[in-house]
Amino acid sequence: MSDLRELYQEVIFDHNRNPRNFGRPAKVDRHSEGHNPLCGDRLTLYITFDQAGKIAQASFEGQGCAISTASASLMTEALKGKTEAEAEVMFHNFHGVIMGTSDVDPAALGKLQVLTGVKEFPARVKCATLAWHTLQAALHGDQQVSTE
Ligand code: FES
Repeated sequence: MSDLRELYQEVIFDHNRNPRNFGRPAKVDRHSEGHNPLCGDRLTLYITFDQAGKIAQASFEGQGCAISTASASLMTEALKGKTEAEAEVMFHNFHGVIMGTSDVDPAALGKLQVLTGVKEFPARVKCATLAWHTLQAALHGDQQVSTE
């Protein structure tokens, strides 16, 4: 295994063991619940905006596998300070790279590129994208979304 791949796995393990932004904040502007029917895992995402319309806080709750938890943790970190439009771009870039449908350079994903290895494992793609589909639903005002 390459050093880079080991480093990526270590970051994923760390975010699964110690998920950032876990829990429901006192103030919530948007929320959505994502469901992966293939495994039954559920995740609720909470978004709070500041007065300038930027994401002040993104957090999540739920039980999921290591990949889905790490993806939600990394995503909520990356969302802070972003506008809705920037968050939409993040979704499309991440989703496109993971699905192999975009020519966006994975390096443009920053820290999120640690998750790009899942594209080699189609069954785990839904795990990595669960939080992201939930994000898009929350941004669009949908309170529930399914990966199927
Ligand atoms: Fe359920 Fe990964 S196994 S989201």
